[in-house]
Amino acid sequence: MQDKAVKIQGLTKAFGANNVLRGIDLELPRGQVTALMGANGAGKSTLVKILCGVHQANGGQISLYGSPFRPDSPAQAIRAGVVTVHQNINDGVVPDLDVASNLMLDEFAHGRGFFMNMKKIRGQARELAATIGLDVDVRRMVGELGLADRQLVAIARAMAHEPKLLILDEPTSSLSAKEAGRLFDLIDRLRDQGVAILYISHRSSDIKRIADRIVSMRDGRISGVFEEAPLDYEGAVKAMLGRAISEMKIDIPPAGAPVLQLQELALTNDSEPFSLDLCDGEVVAVTGLVGSGKSELADVLYGQKRPAAGRMLLRGAPYDPPNQAAAIRAGVFRTPKDRASNAVVQGFDITKNITLPFTRRHAWSGFLNPQSEARTTRRMVDELGIVCQHETDDISSLSGGNQQKVMVGRWMAEAANLLVLDEPFQGVDIQARRDIGSKIRETARGRATVVMVAEMDEAVEIADRIVVMVDHTIKGEHRNENLNLNMVLAQVAGAGESRQLNAG
Ligand SMILES: Nc1ncnc2c1ncn2[C@@H]1O[C@H](COP(=O)(O)OP(=O)(O)OP(=O)(O)O)[C@@H](O)[C@H]1O
Ligand SMILES: [Mg+2]
Repeated sequence: MQDKAVKIQGLTKAFGANNVLRGIDLELPRGQVTALMGANGAGKSTLVKILCGVHQANGGQISLYGSPFRPDSPAQAIRAGVVTVHQNINDGVVPDLDVASNLMLDEFAHGRGFFMNMKKIRGQARELAATIGLDVDVRRMVGELGLADRQLVAIARAMAHEPKLLILDEPTSSLSAKEAGRLFDLIDRLRDQGVAILYISHRSSDIKRIADRIVSMRDGRISGVFEEAPLDYEGAVKAMLGRAISEMKIDIPPAGAPVLQLQELALTNDSEPFSLDLCDGEVVAVTGLVGSGKSELADVLYGQKRPAAGRMLLRGAPYDPPNQAAAIRAGVFRTPKDRASNAVVQGFDITKNITLPFTRRHAWSGFLNPQSEARTTRRMVDELGIVCQHETDDISSLSGGNQQKVMVGRWMAEAANLLVLDEPFQGVDIQARRDIGSKIRETARGRATVVMVAEMDEAVEIADRIVVMVDHTIKGEHRNENLNLNMVLAQVAGAGESRQLNAG
């Protein structure tokens, strides 16, 4: 069998006047994981969508084991053995069908399942789920599953096809560390079976764990190939940015007055109460494993859940929002996690997606002022570096990372008392992450800022103070200065018990 599973030559693709792929030359060897790195909007997902039959190229060739490959539809690509797990999770599953039907979906599509024997289908689905360690009742509706399980369903579905080429477009952005570990084990097995794997991610830890080679992409072209061990990760970042990454330096400002005070707050009936002051001008990162209580804390701050005990003071006055509208009225904003399912309004343009919660501020005696909306949007596009053609572009024409920036921009466009950013860096490239991080820090005065992050390097890049949550309570609090990272990481994993503020 040929060593190169896929050869791509001179591939081009434009959307209107936007030349997205400008001549891609790339080979993917069998039995190897090729990590593809590139800035938000570089064209990674567009390349993927051509390989899997969603989009058609304007020019160039692709061959699969020596034969020309030009899929007209996703079904055709799948039949040829090209299997894809997309960045936008709902592209891979049907929420209104149960897990078993989702797993066997492509069988149905081939007509083989015309007379459906549900019992047999469930049996096959169960086997399939077991091969990837997906532990879920196959009779449940996919729409009821959490994002991580939904994604594993999409991956399990892909596995039914004995793939020749498996493409994963940012598969771990919503997985817990344990789930990601399971995915990596699965990828290891497929690599051993000779599958060519194309893996797209903005996470350095993923790439370092899984890649046999790294390919960098920049502005629609391949800008670097790194194959020699040890892989030159820094070189690959430089090739994708066209320059070295800017350094982050945290200057911790003097403490401001408390904006939000949490007093003996208990998130659940059986969790330990904790107290915490969030001060004017400071940026506090809350980190913890999935299930540690970060989301519950964000829910409580934002009026989506009542605490089991304790109280909150906002600028000295009792704060107990019954719902999120009350939180917003009090100037407490939250950027949502999992933008695709929770936040992005498909069919709306960038402007509407940004100004949505504040439409009234852009209106004068009942008439909406489009200029005012456009001004706000242009400011956020500019400040956050949102890559788009025009502020009236449909949100779905933006790349994943740029949609994420719109979601952050929505809640940074107006002055807040408390800004809660829930996983703001999901799918955002490393330079954009630093740019957004500095923007958050630059604008921090006048409010308190809380950032929920699962990744420790993100916490270290953005915060004055890092708070560690375990079992729905605060187990550690650290000034972001001369940090003992190993100690903090051990604490996140549940090892450390003490809560002390290691001052400088
Ligand atoms: N359906 C579409 N219509 C118009 N423009 C599009 C469409 N899909 C993508 N684009 C544009 O193509 C460019 C590349 O987008 P793509 O999604 O391929 O980027 P990406 O490298 O995957 O970025 P990210 O890391 O943010 O996911 C962007 O400028 C985007 O706005
Ligand atoms: Mg993408």
